[in-house]
Amino acid sequence: MNEKQNDYRWMQRALTLARQGEGRVEPNPMVGCVITQGEKIVGEGFHTAFGAAHAEVEAIRNAGTLADGGNLYVNLEPCCHQGKTGPCTEAILAANIARVVVANTDPFPQVAGSGLAALAAQGIEVTTGVALEEAEELNAPYFHYLQTKRPWVIAKWAMSLDGKIATHRGDSRWISNSSSRKIVHQIRGRVDGILIGRRTAELDDPQLTARPPGPRTALRVVLDSQAQLSSDSQLVRSAGEIPLLVVTSEKAPAEEASRLKNAGCEVVKIEQDQTTNPLHALLTLLGKREMTNLLVEGGGNVLGSFLDAGLINEVHTFVAPLMIGGEGISAVSGKGIDQMERAYRLENCQIEQIESDMYISGRFPREKDS
Ligand SMILES: NC(=O)c1ccc[n+]([C@@H]2O[C@H](COP(=O)([O-])OP(=O)(O)OC[C@H]3O[C@@H](n4cnc5c(N)ncnc54)[C@H](OP(=O)(O)O)[C@@H]3O)[C@@H](O)[C@H]2O)c1
Repeated sequence: MNEKQNDYRWMQRALTLARQGEGRVEPNPMVGCVITQGEKIVGEGFHTAFGAAHAEVEAIRNAGTLADGGNLYVNLEPCCHQGKTGPCTEAILAANIARVVVANTDPFPQVAGSGLAALAAQGIEVTTGVALEEAEELNAPYFHYLQTKRPWVIAKWAMSLDGKIATHRGDSRWISNSSSRKIVHQIRGRVDGILIGRRTAELDDPQLTARPPGPRTALRVVLDSQAQLSSDSQLVRSAGEIPLLVVTSEKAPAEEASRLKNAGCEVVKIEQDQTTNPLHALLTLLGKREMTNLLVEGGGNVLGSFLDAGLINEVHTFVAPLMIGGEGISAVSGKGIDQMERAYRLENCQIEQIESDMYISGRFPREKDS
């Protein structure tokens, strides 16, 4: 193998290690690191949890004295500032690494190229851009968050062959099979927030928890402009133990908002004026809480509002081999588009069969970020 092929191979390994931090490291990025001597890996590590040691430090510790003179592969530029942990550039210099290979530079303002510059200034050979696309894809929510200060929005729904998420009476249990629903619980367990509309809360009475639990507990969010969420709902009854944010508007009667607050919910009023989209305002608010990923679970009206506002970044859809017909509820309502050439098209689409369901997932191109 030539150097380029080797670089790519070891960076793939670093990316595989990095992914193990998913759901544990956010709002930090997922980072993996490999140290090699010739054709052999002598040390590996990844960022395991927010506030824990960085991947480079883990890999150097793992390699011990074998790091001396080695090549270090890391998917994100090493940091050069004192954050929750010490600068990785200093650990790399102390370990006497000869060459550092990176996929992405880190747009984090205190790094942004200065990590690589600090290494190069000390005579370390630096290579960047290896497996760039894969690395960008892995940390797309992190880059999106740094750029927009808003969480990455993941839309999820299960629908019939005829594109419906419930019957005309609002019955939706169950459209997808139990294996598909397990995948949804895995996603729930790694995101910072799970959002639904008031009608879904009313008709489905969901818990919006990950079962079994994942690495993080999501803030549950209900869009309920008039603060009508029932005190008997599972969401409100569990609000004391699992955080629940009810997003209301100026239309919400004060006594209803107080009722929900007294039941342990957090109630936030977002004005529905004509100048700013309330969903933008909400995402900005969630971003201020350092939420990196938000899962939007529907229903159709809520998904439509997010789509119309160009706020969906990633989609997970389960298509079940059944038909609902009639006035069943559409998966995505809202205004929609008027010409096919303006359709929102997923890229890097993955299509997988989950027993009898078809699981389609993908992301919208980053240009749609605003
Ligand atoms: N198959 C699936 O994957 C799946 C997933 C979820 C839900 N569902 C089904 O979907 C059905 C409900 O869907 P739905 O479309 O009728 O209702 P929905 O989207 O769950 O809720 C819509 C309601 O949310 C409130 N809302 C507040 N801000 C909003 C905004 N910016 N955009 C849109 N809505 C906003 C509005 O009520 P207020 O005016 O009172 O605020 C609105 O009427 C249920 O039958 C449920 O079972 C299926």
